[in-house]
Amino acid sequence: MTRDEKTYKVQSGSAPVGGRTEGTYKAQSERAAAAGVEQGRETHPKRQRTKMVAPPNNYLVPERDALKTPVLECRHLGIDFGGLKAVEDLNLMVGKTEIAGLIGPNGAGKTTVFNLLTKVYQPTRGTILLDGVDTAGMDTARVSREGIARTFQNIRLFDSLTVEDNVKIGLHNQVDCGMWSGIFRMPRYWLSEKEFHDRALELLDVFNMADNANDIAGSLPYGAQRRLEIVRALATGPKLLLLDEPAAGMNPVETEELMDNIVKIRDDFQIAVLLIEHDMDLVMGICEGIVVLNFGKVIAKGTPEEIQANPQVVEAYLGKQD
Ligand SMILES: Nc1ncnc2c1ncn2[C@@H]1O[C@H](COP(=O)(O)OP(=O)(O)OP(=O)(O)O)[C@@H](O)[C@H]1O
Ligand SMILES: [Mg+2]
Repeated sequence: MTRDEKTYKVQSGSAPVGGRTEGTYKAQSERAAAAGVEQGRETHPKRQRTKMVAPPNNYLVPERDALKTPVLECRHLGIDFGGLKAVEDLNLMVGKTEIAGLIGPNGAGKTTVFNLLTKVYQPTRGTILLDGVDTAGMDTARVSREGIARTFQNIRLFDSLTVEDNVKIGLHNQVDCGMWSGIFRMPRYWLSEKEFHDRALELLDVFNMADNANDIAGSLPYGAQRRLEIVRALATGPKLLLLDEPAAGMNPVETEELMDNIVKIRDDFQIAVLLIEHDMDLVMGICEGIVVLNFGKVIAKGTPEEIQANPQVVEAYLGKQD
């Protein structure tokens, strides 16, 4: 999908902050009606609205996470590329079990934030705390071990390996059978191989993909590759899962399933999810707190309701209205 197509998708909706076309909304409300859900009520029992509270510094986290150390805190985070301030003065907090959204128009700086969190880029300014620990000086491998996993805007799988092997690569981050037991195929090696196999299938089952374990990753349909990338990220045992446009290229049915699965992952693994997404149905449907970036700066923070009603956000997406 090109950038223009993505922008169109955001702008074409009838909802205040982008969204899908009227037709899709109609299809969605028909699905809700078929499920016996009244209009205007919650469309899904799991997607209850969260009570958000503000600990110090005007941050926003779900009430259930308010007394715990946030899994992620960014303070005055920024990065310059030459003269371009791609991210500027980002203050952000994600609760331990929160599903949070990072949204904004194309080029707003969202992926750059993920690159900062995962140390692909070192920040020009500011601090990133992971579970209360300053990540300054850490590299990509270290933050992965410390508990940040991500998926990429453009899928990055080992195309020629099997689905199971892709997941096992994530698992190797967690378990170390030792060099010598690997070289000499000692019992510990075979035990870990069996453990890896069982665990890989268990994780694939989250997305009902265990039957695809022996398929070549590159041969999977696009939506399945996106799901596999999430499973591989989960296999590293993260505290915080970063998803960069997880619904890109998925059809509405796949997106609906993905929404349920993201909530399920948060519930089952008790981890936090920070997601970037242009699909506003997904963002407004499952995110508890949302941060909106425009030209590298935060222009709004709040619950889905607050964000949808925020004139600055509407303007950032749709341009100034008369
Ligand atoms: N390595 C880099 N060098 C120079 N400029 C960069 C670099 N990475 C990103 N940028 C610039 O930073 C800005 C933010 O880019 P970024 O990819 O973070 O946007 P985004 O919000 O993820 O957009 P999209 O929704 O299109 O994915 C853009 O102007 C981009 O061109
Ligand atoms: Mg991006």
